Amino acid sequence: MWEEVTAHRGARIADLLEDEGRAEDFSVRFDGTLFDYSKTSMTRPARAALVKLAESRGVAERRDAMFAGEPINETEGRAVLHVALRNPGGGPVRVGGQDVMPGLRATLARMEAFAGAVRDGRFAGQGGAITDVVNIGIGGSHLGPEMCVRALRPFHDGPRCHFVSNVDGADIADTLAGLDPATTLVIVASKSLTTIETMTNAETARRWMAGPVAEPAAQFVALSTADAKVAEFGIAPERIFGFEDWVGGRYSVWGPIGLSLMIAVGPAHFRAFLDGGASMDDHFRHAPSKENMAVMLALTGIWHHQVCGYPTRAVLPYDQRLARLPAYLQQLEMESNGKGVAMNGATLDGPVGPIVWGEPGTNGQHAFYQLIHQGRQVIPCEFMVAAEGHEPDLAHHHRLLVANCLAQSEALMRGRSVQEARALMAEAGMTGPELERQAAHRAFPGDRPSTTLIHDRLTPRRLGQIIALYEHRVFVEGAILGINSFDQWGVELGKVLARDMVPLLDGETARHKDCSTRQLIAYIRDHGGG
Ligand code: F6P
Repeated sequence: MWEEVTAHRGARIADLLEDEGRAEDFSVRFDGTLFDYSKTSMTRPARAALVKLAESRGVAERRDAMFAGEPINETEGRAVLHVALRNPGGGPVRVGGQDVMPGLRATLARMEAFAGAVRDGRFAGQGGAITDVVNIGIGGSHLGPEMCVRALRPFHDGPRCHFVSNVDGADIADTLAGLDPATTLVIVASKSLTTIETMTNAETARRWMAGPVAEPAAQFVALSTADAKVAEFGIAPERIFGFEDWVGGRYSVWGPIGLSLMIAVGPAHFRAFLDGGASMDDHFRHAPSKENMAVMLALTGIWHHQVCGYPTRAVLPYDQRLARLPAYLQQLEMESNGKGVAMNGATLDGPVGPIVWGEPGTNGQHAFYQLIHQGRQVIPCEFMVAAEGHEPDLAHHHRLLVANCLAQSEALMRGRSVQEARALMAEAGMTGPELERQAAHRAFPGDRPSTTLIHDRLTPRRLGQIIALYEHRVFVEGAILGINSFDQWGVELGKVLARDMVPLLDGETARHKDCSTRQLIAYIRDHGGG
């Protein structure tokens, strides 16, 4: 099956675009969003072979099993039901024979009541109405809410939100500096409530509050699956918003982990965000492959990474408010599909999860685009932009932003031939060997692939759709590769070794460690560390 796909490599993008019908044919429209993958080297036969590949790998069956609540996270024996969180009005979904929907609806209602009370001052700190919310969490308990709160800034009318994730004391010190403990709400966000970074930061925040505030625990909220551990930490049950182990960390922004977002933008906008996600779920479940945005986004990913062998992909949102989207997608894609073993335990051959990276445009243009245009390696670029901005008085900024985004994908595709570069040099008055030398530097190979996702305007609904789109892309790629996209065993070893390392920094013998690690420990001890 793979051979059938790889046989279609080698087309030149500019040649493919000679076909006037290609742009429309190699695009998917859904609601207010257009996904254009016509500036890739995928031909019609290649696409047909990719669709066949997806069908043969049972993507649709696995998708239906996910929505039905079957335990498709096989290594952990869990269902994968973040999709239920964004569809609170949906019918029964049973896990182990029990319908999860009533519990999920009850938690959402409690979140809405609490967020409303924080926003209108009925829930206050010991010094008055809450002015600042500090979300303490890491990975999936941080990246989603942080990215979304930033993305939805134009809708933010609640208290200020801050995010602390790193165990580096600098993170919490800098965040708390200037905040008033008596009007700050601390959200401890941790699915497991065992994550060392989050627990260390939560303890530090509690100490910070303890002086000026008589009862700090009253200004703490917990978002967790581990109720008993939260109670031990001293947070009252009415301020615990629980969820179940069928919500993966990096898929958790749709539920209690999204509380900071709900407080920021209000329950109605949060509902619109959920609705957006649910509408993308519906599209993913029912649209035929070629008209299915998630499937086609995934197939361009498979085409570029597994078929063409490009090791990375750049996510380039032309939207400063989506500055954290690349980091969010790094966790979503690399923690989900960065695996070397298939579901059946067999070692996987060849490239599996691509390296995902990026920065917002236009900033990236003045940093790493040089390499994307003229470096020897090919980096598929995933552009993203809104047709309309949120600043009507600054419409000329937005026009420039959009113009840059479109110009980049055109430049990558078209390039500039040496002949064209020579003509430019001649126009500038150059001749002879100097003209040749300078022209070589000014030529662009072109034929560099990109996709563009355009939405009308970044609203809560659109943001929900974009996140759900990328979640399903990861799902489809994982299913094609035979990976369990919902575990993350690869993060465990480092955590265990870090725990063992602490006493060594404090002076315990490190004799059992390798010579490099011993040297690093000794250096740190000699220089005031430990
Ligand atoms: O680093 C691994 C991980 O388990 C992520 O998958 C998760 O999002 C993050 O740690 C935080 O976990 P928790 O929410 O349990 O604190």
